[in-house]
Amino acid sequence: MSNQPIECNAMVARAPKKPLTLEKIIVDAPKAFEVRVKVIANALCHTDVYTLDGCDPEGLFPCILGHEAGCIVESIGEGVTSVSVGDHVIPCYTPQCNEIDCVFCNSPKTNLCPKIRSTQGQGLMPDGTVRFHDKDGKSIYHFMGCSTMSEYTVIAEISCAKIELDAPLEKACLFGCGVSTGLGAVWNTCKVEVNSTVAVFGLGAVGLSVIQGAKMSGASQIFAIDMNPAKFEAATKLGATTCITVDKNGNTLTITNVLRGEEDGGGISVQKCIAGKLTPWGVDYTFDCTGNVSVMRSALECAHRGWGTSCIIGVAASGHEITTRPFQLVTGRVWKGTAFGGFKSRTDVPKLVRKMMTGELPIDHFITHRFDGVDKMNEAIDALHSSDGRCLRAVCIY
Ligand SMILES: NC(=O)c1ccc[n+]([C@@H]2O[C@H](COP(=O)([O-])OP(=O)(O)OC[C@H]3O[C@@H](n4cnc5c(N)ncnc54)[C@H](O)[C@@H]3O)[C@@H](O)[C@H]2O)c1
Ligand SMILES: [Zn+2]
Ligand SMILES: [Zn+2]
Repeated sequence: MSNQPIECNAMVARAPKKPLTLEKIIVDAPKAFEVRVKVIANALCHTDVYTLDGCDPEGLFPCILGHEAGCIVESIGEGVTSVSVGDHVIPCYTPQCNEIDCVFCNSPKTNLCPKIRSTQGQGLMPDGTVRFHDKDGKSIYHFMGCSTMSEYTVIAEISCAKIELDAPLEKACLFGCGVSTGLGAVWNTCKVEVNSTVAVFGLGAVGLSVIQGAKMSGASQIFAIDMNPAKFEAATKLGATTCITVDKNGNTLTITNVLRGEEDGGGISVQKCIAGKLTPWGVDYTFDCTGNVSVMRSALECAHRGWGTSCIIGVAASGHEITTRPFQLVTGRVWKGTAFGGFKSRTDVPKLVRKMMTGELPIDHFITHRFDGVDKMNEAIDALHSSDGRCLRAVCIY
């Protein structure tokens, strides 16, 4: 067990809208119930970029971003019993304390353990202090309880999902956020049944994992909707049966039936297209994977009269609100949302990794870009930002 501070490279977010800076930082030893890990691979997620762009009003600077990573335990603090030095772990921004008095961990209905929520939201470790310092000794904030854009980081024991040793960390890291979220929205939050019809709005890594999960659940029809037609190739490979291009107002531009190879002009709203033209009453399950509140409305209104469920996955910009006519709910549609796909992180992430290892759950298609070194993070951000829409996940291997 090491109780010495470590000096290492990290990419520090000094201020919103500025590139990350490569710095030598000090990472303190883990305190009680904390774990220090060596980060092996980090996948960039939109939430990191959203915070760096200054869109999150609660974003704190300077901080170390990053929350989709594969790590090896370097040292453990006092009282840590569930992981040991050398274990492979995925840091999870939704922890799982499993304490007897945690009504959330004890309920099968949710994964929202609040144990370290307040300090995590303030960029601090559970004792209210930080483990990161710059060369002048000044504090650097943590982010989402992970901060994996550093060669070493400290996380709470209850945020560590321990995975099997032979799982490649440069792939398993994807289960730290986006891919798990999409799969879990289908399997846990909505429990999509065989032969269901599904519509997915927004085909980034999250939307594509919804399609993959829906296909694995035996959905019979999957409608894939995006403004960027470059997204349809991957969507089709994963199981989309109809691809619909929309404009920013939610009007359909093209409708492509993948199975029959037919293309149709649009011109009507996506609601009228899905609930009216392509199906008589809408589809069983719809998913918003855009974070846009007018898309969330369209998604709800495409859900089947009488029972259709619409699940919000996208994170909306602060201050934005959802609207629809209450009649949409009176006539049986259900509006839901999900965080981390409802997966209980420490219990479920290792199971997802197992599924990847057995070949049941391939995820290679999400990794479109690879970079070597923590210092390449700005290049990874540029790749994710690029307007061609090709980048799903950019993985940096440290
Ligand atoms: N709930 C959670 O736990 C959770 C976890 C991870 C990510 N998210 C959120 O999920 C969302 C998707 O994440 P991602 O990484 O896949 O993002 P992404 O940016 O890669 O994908 C979004 C897709 O939506 C499309 N899009 C944008 N506006 C649209 C519109 N008006 N109509 C149709 N398509 C539109 C884009 O072209 C893009 O293909 C984000 O909002 C992210 O913050 C939520
Ligand atoms: Zn708990
Ligand atoms: Zn994320």
